Order: sequence, then C-alpha cells, then structure tokens
Amino acid sequence: MPQAEVAEGGPTVSADRNVIDALQEERRSFPPPPEFAAEANGTGALYGRDLEGFWGDEARTRISWFTPFDRVLEWELPYAKWFLGGQLNACYNCVDRHVEAGRGAKVAYHWEGEPDGDRRTLTYADLQREVVRFAGGLRRLGVGKGTPVGIYMGMVPEQAIAMLACARLGAPHTVVFGGFSPEALEGRLNDMGCEVLITQDEGWRRGNRVPLKVNADQALTHTPAIRTVVVARRTGGPVAMTPGRDLEWDAVTAGVADDPATCPCEPMDAEDLLYLLYTSGTTARPKGIVHTTAGYLVGVSATHHYVFDIKPDTVYWCAADIGWVTGHSYIVYGPLCNGTTSVLYEGTPDFPDRDRWWSIVERYGVTVLYTAPTSIRTHMRWGEAYAQRHDLSSLRLLGTVGEPINPEAWMWYREHIGGGRTPIVDTWWQTETGMIMISPLPGVTTCKPGSATRPFPGVDARVVDDKGREVAPGAGGYLVIRAPWPAMLRGIHRDPERYRETYWSRFPGAYFVGDGARVDEDGDFWLLGRVDDVMNVSAHRISTIEVESALVDHPSVAEAAVCGRSDPQTGQAIVAYVTLKAGHQPSVEHMARLRAHVAARIGKIAMPANIVFTTELPKTRSGKIMRRLLRDVAEHRPLGDTTTLADPSVVEELRVRAQADGGQEA
Ligand code: WTA
Repeated sequence: MPQAEVAEGGPTVSADRNVIDALQEERRSFPPPPEFAAEANGTGALYGRDLEGFWGDEARTRISWFTPFDRVLEWELPYAKWFLGGQLNACYNCVDRHVEAGRGAKVAYHWEGEPDGDRRTLTYADLQREVVRFAGGLRRLGVGKGTPVGIYMGMVPEQAIAMLACARLGAPHTVVFGGFSPEALEGRLNDMGCEVLITQDEGWRRGNRVPLKVNADQALTHTPAIRTVVVARRTGGPVAMTPGRDLEWDAVTAGVADDPATCPCEPMDAEDLLYLLYTSGTTARPKGIVHTTAGYLVGVSATHHYVFDIKPDTVYWCAADIGWVTGHSYIVYGPLCNGTTSVLYEGTPDFPDRDRWWSIVERYGVTVLYTAPTSIRTHMRWGEAYAQRHDLSSLRLLGTVGEPINPEAWMWYREHIGGGRTPIVDTWWQTETGMIMISPLPGVTTCKPGSATRPFPGVDARVVDDKGREVAPGAGGYLVIRAPWPAMLRGIHRDPERYRETYWSRFPGAYFVGDGARVDEDGDFWLLGRVDDVMNVSAHRISTIEVESALVDHPSVAEAAVCGRSDPQTGQAIVAYVTLKAGHQPSVEHMARLRAHVAARIGKIAMPANIVFTTELPKTRSGKIMRRLLRDVAEHRPLGDTTTLADPSVVEELRVRAQADGGQEA
C-alpha cells in the first residue's frame, strides 16, 4: 500500500502570466521506508555543509589523484576552476584502479544486444584489456593528449570503450547521438575540429539496421580535419571503406598489447578538457558544452553514489542513450568511477515485444532503474500486463530525468514497476550542469509525485522573479543557481560571448537555467518546463529555431515558425506553421516531404508532429513572430494579448486551420 499522506499547504498561487503559471497541485507524499533509510548512503547531515568543505571531502574520498589538489575552488564569475593543482585521469579512476584493488572480476557491464540472445559480459578486467588495446591502437594512429575525437555509434560496449580510451590518452571526445543526421554530425565534428571519427557499421533498432557508417560517410565529405575513421563491427553488414582513411576496429587493435603498463593513463590537470557535448540552445547553432576532468568526475561520482544509493552489489540500469549527457554521466563516467555493475541495452523497449525491459530487469536482477518520464508514459499506455509477466522484486529504487514527470506517471511507475515500495528519485539537471542538481536523497527525503524536491548538497538553487528577487513559497519564477558546482560547464566551445550571454546575463551573479520552477511551503522544488525557445520532446532538447531553419531550407518554404505544445506521450510535440512560396500547394504529401526534410537535416526526433500551412504568420509591427500566440493556438487556448499584432485577422485564420488540421497528426 502506498503510504500517502496529505501534505500541508493550500492551492498554489499562480504568478503573473508573463512570468510562469504555477498551477500544479499535488498533495501526496511518501516518506522514506525505514528499512531503506537505515542503510542509505545519504544522510541529512550532508545538507548545510559549507561548499568547499563538502566538495573537498568528496573529491578526496571518491577520486584517486596522481597529484593531490591544493585548492578546492577558484571562482571568477562566470568561470570556475575546481581542485586546482590536482592531477588525475578519468580512465584510471573508472577502470584501472578497480582492477588494481582486486575487483577485476566484478562485472562492469551486462550488455544486452537487441537481437534476442546477443549478450556480452564485461568485467572490469575485461574492460581494462579492451580499453588498453584500443587506446594503444589509437596512439599508434597519432592520437594523443589534446587530439579531438568524434564518436558516432550505437549502444554497444565499444562506445564506452572508445570514450574511455580517449580519456586514457587525454584526447577529448565528442559523442554524437547515433540518431542524429549526417548534417548534424558534420556540424559537430567541424566545430570541435575532430581529427579522428570512431563509428560502427550499423546499429540495431527495433529490428532495423541503422546505417551509421553510411551516414558518417555522408558527413565526412565535408569534414576536412578528419584523417582517420575507425569502424567497429556490429551487424557485419557491408560497408564501404575508404582506403587510406577508414580502418576496421580490429585492425586498429591488431598486435597491440593489453598490459596497462604499455599504455599508461595520461596525467591530466584537473581543468583539462574531458569532452564536449553539443546541445540545443535558442539559436540554430548547437552549443559545444565544455566539461573538464576533475570537477566533472567528482560531481558525477558523488551524485551517483548518493542519489542512486549505490552499494557494492547494486545492479544499476540507466536506460538512456550514451549519446546524451545522461549516458555520459550516468552510464559511463559516474557508475564506472564508483565501480558499479551496470546494464547496457542496445535497442528499443518493444523489441521483440513490449516486455523487453522487464525481462532485462528480471534476468540481471536490476536493483536501480533510471529512465525518462516519456518512457514511463509509453509503458503506461501499453499497460502493466507486460511488467506483470516478470519478477521485478529486485528493484529497490527508481529514477527519472529529462522533463517534469506528471504525478500520474510517477504513481504508475511506483505501483507497477516499483511494487508500491520503491522510492523514486526525480532528478533535475542539464547537459550544462553535468551532474544531478535537484533530487531527493533516497532514505532521507520525503518524495512527492512530480517534485524533484531538494537541491543536492552543495548546490545553491533558487527561484526568482523577473527582477531576480526570490519568490514566495508557491509562486512561480525562474530557476537560478547562485554558486558554482564542480561538474558545471566551463564554457561554450569557441564562444565565450555566447556563454556569458546565455547563462550569466539574465540575472547578474547567477546561472540562468532556462527552466521555470516553484518552491512549495516545505521547500520542495517543482519544475515547470522551459521558459525560452527550447522544446523538450521525449526528454530531448530541441530549439524552435533549429527546426525553423531546417524548414526554410526547403525550397518550397517561405517562412516557418515552430513551437511546442503539450503532448501526453512525448511531453511536448512540435507544431510548425509554414507559409509556402508561390507555386507550391499545401497537401498531406507536402507535409510528409517537409517532415522528412527536417529528419534529414536534424534527425527524426526533430520532426514536427503537425504542420499547419498558412498564408501569413502572426507578427508584431516590427516583424517579430509572436510565438506566444502560436503556442496558444497550438494548445487550443484562448488567445492572450493580441494588441501588438500587425494584422489581428491572421491568428483567427491560423486557429481555424490548426483546428482543421488537428486530425492530420503524424
Ligand atoms: C529538463 C538532461 C523537469 C529541463 C539531463 C532541463 C527536467 C532540460 C528534469 C535539460 C526533471 C531535465 N524535471 N525537467 N527531473 N530533468 N529536465 O540538457 O527543462 O538534455 O533544462 O539534460 O531538461 O535537458 P538536457
């Protein structure tokens, strides 16, 4: 039985419409089960410690240093340096030291391929051998400290091995999600100036082959800096190999010793670049988010330990993709740094049937499961019968990330997956933050469905109004972070201006998150979604302008405006308003063409769910598209203020068309 309690506090106050409406009201709460609390890694004493004291202790206990740091933090707004003077290597911390400590036989990854029966177990000793050989092979190809490397793969162990091999050599990587298009890959490789690309022949996805090498080849026609391409074999399907440029993974490692002494871990300074990860912002050009070595590793290992209550026998499964930050921090660096056993699954949840995830939980005895609300809602829609086919009693903790979770999905997750007994950690964070920033500590925090609850110890998060003043309990406002944290981004690659402008100009002295939030009477945080032109589709960030640029790039499109509307399945769905050039007619076929065009430019995740063809977009007299109105139209809401519209009849037309097109959803 759920231990539901009625929380104190009346209905929430809704703030000024121009700030954020904070209307959600949820009164259930779940105190930590006493058995869980008795053994929990986290304690209430972690809160309220001084910033440098807390993180300094975490850094000393969690990380093996080649040279100890002599200063915890240097903060010159907006740039932080953490653990100054320290030297370390991320691969050493994630792999070698566990083997040296006699834990080589412990499983690092239970890998489950999508085709039935494709399984592989990698112990920490296996992982070390693979990483040492691949790093040795890369070194033979001239990869060393500072060489930028791109990685474009599916969910195979080689993807983690490639990242760790780069880290071993001190070569920064950028991982590009395998679902991104050739064009998206090209832009990222060029922005970082990658010299080497590691990819694979094909991936498996819902029984289909994802043509990774074919996509890579298309990107590689415009990436002048790439001199070498390494191709891992997954499906064994035929791929074209360009002589002098492309090498098989096995050829790269041929004859390379697996003795770690032959390819030692490069000592890196605390602030040396570990990786770039590109993410959407409010312009069409993705931002290369900079993460450095020591602070990042301290942040992800500490949060992983406390938030997921990791024990020596934990079997942990983060069902995200390594290509997103969640995979970087909580499939690769965090869990491996903590010497944890993880599950790595290649495919989709419905292959061959909708119980695939639950069969995986049962097979490996998964104790901690971490996924996104959109996946939970998908399982919810399929129904609990699939979960009931399997023994899920090994689960003791569940987690979510990526978007606000609706209380209904939270309750379903707890009841049908967690057997009504597991705490749920709703973890709020971003590519930029590198680590979990707001989350319950299981065993300490009382959970509420839909609330990410408290800032992690050592994180100073607040909710402020337009003027930067902290808002009263219950009122909506903007989420900001007022003090540096170790895993924070160190900048945007090659764009210090944009770094300052995007994150540090809105509220002087504080990091501007871009999300709305409110804090309730108990001090718990409720996230309210983005306040800028970033949409959150299936827990993936996509900017409106990226999609607009892709649309207007099509020869038939004169103008496009894009916004998100709420969607019960994907969180938000993309709605595009398109005006066509003379000589082009709106049609269902044309809608399909435009959607395919966006998929080719960015990736399938960015395809609009609806396209509304219109003769005019609503604009102000100065020509600015009024997105707020488009959102109102998309969500069938009464229209807000239209007095600044140049031609008020335009929205009426749009409304009629949007309603008429409502049935044509893809
Ligand atoms: C959203 C993913 C509510 C938020 C780790 C944030 C969330 C963006 C949550 C970052 C959550 C992430 N509750 N919203 N628990 N987690 N978000 O960079 O809007 O892909 O700004 O990082 O996702 O997305 P990103």
